[in-house]
Amino acid sequence: MTLVIKGGTIVTADLTYKADILIDGERIAEIGQDLEGDEVIDASGAYVMPGGIDPHTHMEMPFMGTHSADDFDSGTAAALAGGTTMTVDFALPSPGQGLVDTAQAWFQKAGPARTDYSFHMGITWWGEQVFDEMPKVVEKGINSFKHFMAYKGALMVNDDELFASFTRCAEIGALPLVHAENGDVVAALQQKLMDVGQTGPEAHAYSRPPEVEGEAVNRAIMLADQAGVPLYVVHTSCEQAHEAIRRARQKGMRVYGEPLIQHLVLDESEYQNPDWQHAARRVMSPPFRDKANQDSLWAGLSAGSLQVVATDHCAFTDEQKRMGVGDFRKIPNGTGGLEDRLSVLWTKGVRTGRLTMNEFVAVTSTNIAKILNIYPRKGAILVGAEADLIVFDPAATKTITAARQHSVIEYNVFEGIEVTGLPVVTLSRGRVAYRDGEVRAETGDGRFVERPADAPASRALSTWKELVAPRKVERSGIPAGV
Ligand code: URP
Ligand code: ZN
Ligand code: ZN
Ligand code: ZN
Repeated sequence: MTLVIKGGTIVTADLTYKADILIDGERIAEIGQDLEGDEVIDASGAYVMPGGIDPHTHMEMPFMGTHSADDFDSGTAAALAGGTTMTVDFALPSPGQGLVDTAQAWFQKAGPARTDYSFHMGITWWGEQVFDEMPKVVEKGINSFKHFMAYKGALMVNDDELFASFTRCAEIGALPLVHAENGDVVAALQQKLMDVGQTGPEAHAYSRPPEVEGEAVNRAIMLADQAGVPLYVVHTSCEQAHEAIRRARQKGMRVYGEPLIQHLVLDESEYQNPDWQHAARRVMSPPFRDKANQDSLWAGLSAGSLQVVATDHCAFTDEQKRMGVGDFRKIPNGTGGLEDRLSVLWTKGVRTGRLTMNEFVAVTSTNIAKILNIYPRKGAILVGAEADLIVFDPAATKTITAARQHSVIEYNVFEGIEVTGLPVVTLSRGRVAYRDGEVRAETGDGRFVERPADAPASRALSTWKELVAPRKVERSGIPAGV
């Protein structure tokens, strides 16, 4: 069976042009004029773009005494409805658990996924077994390792562990990721606030100021530079963090920054809402920031100092959030956003002129495909690429509401925002996965995407580091007998 998308305007990270796309099976077979196929999707008046790739989601994540509420089934249904065709989740070892074992558990867990998917492997503890198993999970197609510099007493690792793991990543051609907040300072600030009776959700934000994030980003950059490995900073939320990334990149370091759609449009005033539940629903780490930070993040996306917009989709129900009544430290950290990332970014980014359409494609799909070493299999509209595509109607509108979302939680942090520009058809490997409000992909249609090690940037950096490595000086004239 062949399928042709006719009459649309193709928008990629570097081009905008009118052409039809012929899909044969799972891949793009031809791009050109007046193509014919067994089936036709009319894209007149619409843009045809690569499906979104969200490199930061947490489905059914074991965290803070519970599990995030969306599983791979509901979470990836939300993704497809929002034009995202691939998600990258986090496989997180429990204390002492091996990486191969953990990967196996996450392969099981992801079975019901409707989108294609991949994992970052968590480095949540350090030891010989972890060191030995890192190349084994790379062989399985997982080429990135996530480190938490926060969540003291749980997921957090220390500097010596970070440096050991970053060094190992350099050896095996893998990419380290960091959640960058100074976990020791956060823990101390949390205690200080609790001691004076500041127990509400606003204290969550007070305990995690931007300085705490900026310091950790600077530290992670230094550690990665010394280890000779690129670095990917997840949920870059503030100017302090962005400034560190910007400065590192100007010095030639290979550092990537990922703002979330939440931090681009929502701000810390949400935590001042007198309704406890309203504020608790928005508790995530890093917290929403003072509005001034948003200009910095938007500027980073257009200037190229920040490369990717993600969601960190980690949804908790109201009942789960209520675990933290009387103690903000117990409110499960996380918000949703998978279904809304593209439409909100288009509305607040492209329609306002902060981003071009091509930059929109770059930051929602193409850049991360390159960083994760799956380009042009994913993130591209090229002959031979997998046909993960969206037909995007720039005139379609809706008001975001939890009442019509695919996530299982009962609220949406973007509730009431009117968006213009929506995916009307989502194709996953050539099949219609979502069309006109209906998710058509079945539970389990998604497939694991293997990501090889040695991405071009990793290879280039290790070549350079080898070239400039300190060299022993061969000497003559050493006094005899000494
Ligand atoms: O609050 C958040 N971001 N929850 C998910 C876990 C993480 O830190 O990414
Ligand atoms: Zn569990
Ligand atoms: Zn995080
Ligand atoms: Zn996360």
